Amino acid sequence: MTTITELWLENRRGGKTIGIGEAAPRISFTATGPGPFDLHFTRDDGRQETSTVTDTQLVPWPFAPLSPREGGQLTVSSSQGVLDTRVEAGLGDDWNVDFVSPSTSAPHYRPRPAYLLRASFDLSHLTRGISRARLYVTAHGVYELELNGTRIGDDVLAPGWTSYRHRLRYQTHDLTDALTSGENVVGAWLADGWYRGHIGFDGGLWDIYGTDVALLAQLEVTTIDGLLHRIPLTWSWAASPITAVGLYEGESFDARLLRDTWSTAAFDATDWAPATTLTRAEFSARIEPPTALPVRQIEKIAPVSVDRQPNGRIRLNFGQNISGVLRIRLRAEAGRTVRLHHAEVIENGELGTRPLRAATSIDAYTARGSGVEVYTPRFTIHGFQYAELENWPGDLTDGDVEAVVIHTDMRQTAWFDSSHPGLNKLHSNVQWSMRDNFVDLPTDCPQRDERVGWTGDIQVFAPTALRLFAAQGTLTGWLRDLAFEQEDLGHVPQFVPWIECGFPNFPTAAWGDAAVIVPWEMYLADGDTRILAEQYASMRAWVDLVDDLTGNSGLWSGGFQLGDWLDPTAPPEDPGKSHTDKYLVATAYHVRTARILADTAALLGNEEDTKRYRAVAARAARAFQDEFISASGRVVSDTPTSIAVALVFDLFENEGQAARAGKRLLELAEQGGFHISTGFVGTPIICDALVLAGSVDYAYHLLRQEELPSWLYPVSMGATTIWERWDSMLPDGNINPGDMTSFNHYALGAVASFLHATVAGLESDAPGWERVRFQPRPGGGLTHASARYDSVRGTASIRWARDGGTLTIDVEVPAASTGVVVLPGTGREIHVGPGRHTITESFRPASDDPAAPVVGWRKPEPVGA
Ligand code: BGC
Repeated sequence: MTTITELWLENRRGGKTIGIGEAAPRISFTATGPGPFDLHFTRDDGRQETSTVTDTQLVPWPFAPLSPREGGQLTVSSSQGVLDTRVEAGLGDDWNVDFVSPSTSAPHYRPRPAYLLRASFDLSHLTRGISRARLYVTAHGVYELELNGTRIGDDVLAPGWTSYRHRLRYQTHDLTDALTSGENVVGAWLADGWYRGHIGFDGGLWDIYGTDVALLAQLEVTTIDGLLHRIPLTWSWAASPITAVGLYEGESFDARLLRDTWSTAAFDATDWAPATTLTRAEFSARIEPPTALPVRQIEKIAPVSVDRQPNGRIRLNFGQNISGVLRIRLRAEAGRTVRLHHAEVIENGELGTRPLRAATSIDAYTARGSGVEVYTPRFTIHGFQYAELENWPGDLTDGDVEAVVIHTDMRQTAWFDSSHPGLNKLHSNVQWSMRDNFVDLPTDCPQRDERVGWTGDIQVFAPTALRLFAAQGTLTGWLRDLAFEQEDLGHVPQFVPWIECGFPNFPTAAWGDAAVIVPWEMYLADGDTRILAEQYASMRAWVDLVDDLTGNSGLWSGGFQLGDWLDPTAPPEDPGKSHTDKYLVATAYHVRTARILADTAALLGNEEDTKRYRAVAARAARAFQDEFISASGRVVSDTPTSIAVALVFDLFENEGQAARAGKRLLELAEQGGFHISTGFVGTPIICDALVLAGSVDYAYHLLRQEELPSWLYPVSMGATTIWERWDSMLPDGNINPGDMTSFNHYALGAVASFLHATVAGLESDAPGWERVRFQPRPGGGLTHASARYDSVRGTASIRWARDGGTLTIDVEVPAASTGVVVLPGTGREIHVGPGRHTITESFRPASDDPAAPVVGWRKPEPVGA
């Protein structure tokens, strides 16, 4: 009995299949048992094709390729079940309209208003019924659409942020059921967004991509006789009720200016001005469909507490740090302005807004004074857990204010649970920090005047991101931008899209290495080599550049480096001042990425490059060993991060050296009293390194630590997301004095992978989870742990529980995979096939798990003190 449980195209799991870019999209599905499976495609013109397959993954499109706009119904069936989806190609390059702009070069010293654009069109000349209507849309700026008075689609901040000079994504909207046969009106709200709004830190920049916001919208209607009608749109524009808006600053909305019917045929728009045409040919960017689902309103959260402050403001605590906005409902007299303030934390009884820097994050709503009014800001977004309402009319009643969580719509793919509430909360915090920072692109933080795609952050977090949510779509698009920026700059910048706001623009290890590591991790997660083929030139260009920078010696020993960024011993104002040698980190990464590149070349069948990059990697490994490892296995700059990279990246010449270094790592962990002493580079791998050094128990001691610095210290302080600094909030409740202090950065949350792979013991043993490794490692006093991963081959899961000296392990192997269970203690391996299995084994009771040895810990002095 085989049923089909999920069906998707390319990497769009859970995704939209209308307006796709591929003419021959690969088909994937999960099934509860083996095939064969029948694929059936019925085109809109009635033509039918079928094919029988046994594979479930990335099945090449077995039908004739789709031409632009062509669509049909795809069905997958097995003995017991059927799943189907509509598949429809996008516009390809068949654009025949121009951009229309309501504004030319408005001044930029403060947030500018949003505009309304409007086009009315009559369909009464179409004598046959409409079988399909599509609006293909994008913008310079951010837009929201209406048709005949009703919102179209649910995308937020569309078309999102890409390297606009190179790539602009369009959305495909289905208007079939929304059009009327007579006069229709399409309307667009349009604001600055990333295109020309205020973006970046250290003052930031305005008008980065251009001085005019503009809309590009092509409307096409197909009638039941199969004829395609391009409907010309003539646009006019007017001011909108959004009088000022910036992604960082917030939105000001004057409801008195809202004319309810503006996007309906009943509205008289004679006083609207004609929009200016900006020819499409003036802009060189490729206009392409998105590779991921859009940013959306994902959920709404009610406040957990509401308090009136002495200054009259109403403070709300939502109990969760999120990215999003408030939705308010109020009754007020015309002209009353309510201001909405946002912050992540409370400091000294006040909203802690200092860390927001220039991102003031204040929305303002001016009431029109007519009954109940509801408002949700459209074109701004904030990172917050707390909000204050200033000048609110009267008291709040339930439902008056909610927090709207906004981020890229991603399918959750992983779950973790254990008997340790602190670790469970830590895991939840990592999930939230990922959600809050996947707002169209992978960002560092969602709240301050930054929110940019720092390459180092996603480089260390990619394996975790790909485990927790179906992030391939987002990362595929982002990597395209990375490659474009890299081509322009000659190196991979520290963040993508790159904007020149004063940050040192140099090749930097661990950050630039994202070009190689992110695609590789994507390949490991789903077994698809296409991303490697697509990114190959970028991957190679990065490794070649670093090789050049080392003077072909393999030793990266000069130039700007961020190193083990935010090592807790670095002073707050100098987060790059780590105990770990920056060039050790740089050279270690060079070895790692050269090796990955060689493996990639081999997978892609490029023998010459395989040889070449094996040689580059070997030379770099030799250089690393000569420079940083003594013959007996001591590692220069005797820090946990140095040893961790050497162990995890496999940089020792022989096992003796690795064993000696491992011993030293355990000593350092003890001497540090099992507190964290690693930054962005060391933290994601320190637990793996301790396991490689031979002590799962030491990893548990580190994981379970609650004193500063540790993963659980923020949890003990009530954190609901991962903080940028271990002590973003100091024990006395003050915010860390560093100018760069976020309460929502995912990088240090990369440890969630360890919770899944090692604590619960669920790991892939071959790309795409073709083989699953179940290797539970009970310890730390935990009595049970479980993890589940909805892989591209189906669900893999594990649960282990200790009852006295009996360990019970339940595993689930996806239908299209095999599994191996590795027993703790003995290391015995049991091979298992698809389905569920239970194994019982003797293992020490949780009460016998070793306690952390006490060695007289002393907080290390800051570097240079
Ligand atoms: C960002 C980081 C980033 C770092 C590198 C910070 O401002 O928030 O996460 O990787 O700078 O310099």
